Amino acid sequence: MGLHQVAAALVAPGKGILAADESIATMSRRLEAVGVVPSADTRRDYRRLLLTTPGLDSWVSGIILCDETLGQDLPGGTTFGEGAAAFGIMAGIKVDKGVTPLPFADGGLVTEGLDGLRGRLEAYRERGAVFAKWRAVLSPAGLHRRTVHANAHALARYAALCQEAGIVPIVEPEVLMDGGHGLAVCRAATASALGAVFAELDAMGVDPRGIVLKPNMIISGTQHEDQARPAEVARETLHVLSATVPPAVPGIAFLSGGQSNEQACANLAAINARAATDGAPPWRLTFSFGRALVSDALRTWHGVAANAEEAQNRLAANCRRAGEASKGPVTAAAGA
Ligand code: 13P
Repeated sequence: MGLHQVAAALVAPGKGILAADESIATMSRRLEAVGVVPSADTRRDYRRLLLTTPGLDSWVSGIILCDETLGQDLPGGTTFGEGAAAFGIMAGIKVDKGVTPLPFADGGLVTEGLDGLRGRLEAYRERGAVFAKWRAVLSPAGLHRRTVHANAHALARYAALCQEAGIVPIVEPEVLMDGGHGLAVCRAATASALGAVFAELDAMGVDPRGIVLKPNMIISGTQHEDQARPAEVARETLHVLSATVPPAVPGIAFLSGGQSNEQACANLAAINARAATDGAPPWRLTFSFGRALVSDALRTWHGVAANAEEAQNRLAANCRRAGEASKGPVTAAAGA
């Protein structure tokens, strides 16, 4: 499949992307938090549980993995990178190397990982990855224009290198939901970030038909006293996306950012419902959730093999709800 076909397949109707690409450090912390001793084996066992969930491909088109997992073995002996396709799911790889403070930017962060990326992408493609992810992290309160610009530039250079290598880039400028800010602050930061990202993507020659955008929804900061309801989230999110995202982009797959499954799915359903009312949107609107899909499964499993089936049921239920939300309003049946 070419870039356009892979990008379109990642956002196929009723399907979204499962983000299971926590770094070794983050995954280890999450395992420890549920009482599992972190190791390469327990990290692999947990990701095996996720990928081998029966019926996962009914709602999930692609799974984002980290470098360690891509080369680990699935039960049949093939690697995750080579074996994901047998489960009907495309393998993706997180290629950024995390964040560092940007000078003269009031504490803003920039994502690193461009050095040597061309060679790494080549190797990842050989190991089975057909798409990639790079995440920029933007704190909305006091967001400096240098932070916006540096991250947009890095995302565009990453995306161009991916397309050169025949890999679809997921472009993720994440405006964090942590903080006491309101909806308007999130909206302004997101509009500024997306505007800069699409200007840089264009300047770098990136083909918009061969990317997937992974933005945050426009939501209130977690500590804000007035939490926006799904209808407001939908209105604000679509307003910003319509003003910044070219119609040629095939799909927008939202991150969950720490929202619960119910909250993230209610917001996604409202976004799709409003988009349908406004007139058919040019892009598919779906999910690329991490925690909102997997947290229940991780807690249910907590390293006990006998709990694996129940954990997979929890994951399937969350993915089903997200898949339904990517089509429109959550129905009673979808929420069951
Ligand atoms: P969350 O949905 O847990 O925010 O994770 C998505 C992701 O991939 C962040 O980079």
